[in-house]
Amino acid sequence: FGYLNYLVKRDRRFIADILINGLHRLEYRGYDSSGIAFDGDDVEGSDTKQSLKSRRACVVVRQKGKVEELEHVVRSLENIDWDAEFTVHVGIAHTRWATHGEPNAVNSHPQRSDEQNQFVCVHNGIITNYKDIKQYLTNKGYKFESETDTEVVVKLVKYLYDKHKNENISFQKLIEMACSQLEGAFALLFKSTHFPGELCATRRGSPMVIGVKCADQLATSHIPVMFSKDLSNPRFTKDLFNHQNSKDSRNDIQLVETTSANLRGVFSPPLMITDQSASELAVTGNDRSIEYYFASDASAIIEHTNQVIFMEDDDLAVVKNGALTIHRTQHGEVTGQSAIREIHELKIELQQIMKGNYKYFMQKEIYEQPESVVNTMRGRVNFSAKKVVLGGIKDYINEIRRCRRLILIACGTSYHSAVATRQLLEELSELPVMVELASDFLDRNTPVFRDDVCIFVSQSGETADTILALRYCKQRGALIVGFTNTVGSSISRESHCGVHINAGPEIGVASTKAYTSQFLALVLFGLVLSEDSISKEPRRKAIIDGLQQLADLIKKVLECDKKIREYAEALYKESSLLVMGRGFNFATCLEGALKLKELTYMHSEGILAGELKHGPLAMVDHLMPIVMIVMDDPVKTKCMNAYSQVQARGGQPIIICNEDDEELIKLTSRHIAIPRTVDCLQGILCVVPMQLLSFHIAVLRGYDVDCPRNLAKSVTTA
Ligand code: G6P
Repeated sequence: FGYLNYLVKRDRRFIADILINGLHRLEYRGYDSSGIAFDGDDVEGSDTKQSLKSRRACVVVRQKGKVEELEHVVRSLENIDWDAEFTVHVGIAHTRWATHGEPNAVNSHPQRSDEQNQFVCVHNGIITNYKDIKQYLTNKGYKFESETDTEVVVKLVKYLYDKHKNENISFQKLIEMACSQLEGAFALLFKSTHFPGELCATRRGSPMVIGVKCADQLATSHIPVMFSKDLSNPRFTKDLFNHQNSKDSRNDIQLVETTSANLRGVFSPPLMITDQSASELAVTGNDRSIEYYFASDASAIIEHTNQVIFMEDDDLAVVKNGALTIHRTQHGEVTGQSAIREIHELKIELQQIMKGNYKYFMQKEIYEQPESVVNTMRGRVNFSAKKVVLGGIKDYINEIRRCRRLILIACGTSYHSAVATRQLLEELSELPVMVELASDFLDRNTPVFRDDVCIFVSQSGETADTILALRYCKQRGALIVGFTNTVGSSISRESHCGVHINAGPEIGVASTKAYTSQFLALVLFGLVLSEDSISKEPRRKAIIDGLQQLADLIKKVLECDKKIREYAEALYKESSLLVMGRGFNFATCLEGALKLKELTYMHSEGILAGELKHGPLAMVDHLMPIVMIVMDDPVKTKCMNAYSQVQARGGQPIIICNEDDEELIKLTSRHIAIPRTVDCLQGILCVVPMQLLSFHIAVLRGYDVDCPRNLAKSVTTA
């Protein structure tokens, strides 16, 4: 997280509060240690031309543990004048999920170039060639204090600065030079005592959003803030001139000079687009006050401004004299990437990322599911005409129908949503459907062809393995379809077409409402694919009728919460819990077991009931806790066989069943009875008791439900 104010007076306390608050919002992404860097008092400079002026010191505070602990340390710092005011100031902050080096203060970010903190930086991602650079710098006499890959980056910047400082090198150039040496994935923010009031941000593979807040309001948020090298780029010129013509005062935009390769335009007020190097765009406060917010995701920005720019890979954003310019760095261009950066108006509301009356985000998100499923369907399902339209893929439907196979690729919970809908997609599309874990898909160098359709499912749209798999498939010419919950995410930008699942921001690390919305979005996709099949019409209608009931049925499942809490009380001291089922609910078992593992740290396995005899049955005895999902659907008889086998070994499973399945309810006193829906949608209802059960067990065990140990919401490193 980064914050820069220009010509807005802010005291140090305010700045520290903004930074720490930003970290609180991002904490769900990683939380084993954190840190901030902000300006200290002025000191005498000691080198080159800078030495003539006084330089501002940089204070770095880092702490192991959650942001709360950092906050405590910052507040109790001595000798800091919290009332000191700055009209220009840069602060950066970071919450960490350790990859290199154990979580402790020294390994936390900001990492620094030296004891004076001349350069400091925060980093998400992994620098894969850090050992080589470290060796190089060590040979040059540099000493390293941490075990992180990040320290190498900031020391490299310092090395380059020392080498080029007599040439009056700019901050931008320095960062550009340093980044050209880096391999791996990163989102980086830099601050330096040599360049007060300047901030550099860059990304390759890890997300970064910039929030822009002008005192005078970027009222016309749709003003195209963009640059294109190519003036004949139709989108560029169209947007530019549309804007010009739509304004009352044509003086708002003056095209000062255009040449075939260069554009200089002045937007006043409030924006300016310049182009000095044929590859940059600029937003500026000009002679006005402006504030910038940099963050890994928009949830940390939304309370300050809803005007954001999504950075793309190899963008270098520089703020200097209050102006933001974005430059393309030299790294290999990824084809299909736009050179246009618009200011987007974020639609999420602050309230959506607050806990409201709930104690935990996860609990809130479980209870939000009756609304989130409706949001996924909004504007897409016409219940009376029994028709589904997915605007984001409508131009590609014919191509998709003609494909060789559908390959669904994802990680974690998102993968389970693909497993959950595979059978229905096969049934409705009559195409071969493969479901793949992104990491394994890449490990196998899986053959992919031009006539394959590759579907990437991801809540965040930023999961590194999923993005790598996407690029792998794109390179091989397949059609790329993205299913994500995050507008502007890498996956949504790099896909040819796609579906936003619209579940709303999900903060709890363990995914809940995103799962049910992904599941649902894939069902809608299946319905669209089968639209031309007359024989499938009755099935389609039955599913669409089921969709109409879905929200109410989820509400009914949530009414079982009290009973589920009682089961949790009986189970929370156990060390293991098996979850069994098959057919449409095999995925529910996998997802239920994953929720248990993530939240309760107990051993749990989702077991395909058809495989019971081939191993898992050996674990079953009268002590082994088991949940079985037995729905009244085409595989019920087979599930009942598994139930008998478990019972014969003394097992006493808790059964999740249909509330009107009297025959089964009579057989067992331990059950969670839920409403009936169409077989292929039943998994959306069945997963809710598993979410609640995991939640309650974790609370009873005293664990942090929203931030399970060792996990992060968004895994942006492969
Ligand atoms: C992490 C999260 C999981 C999530 C998985 C995939 O492991 O902790 O909750 O399911 O990543 O994330 P994605 O954002 O791609 O759905």
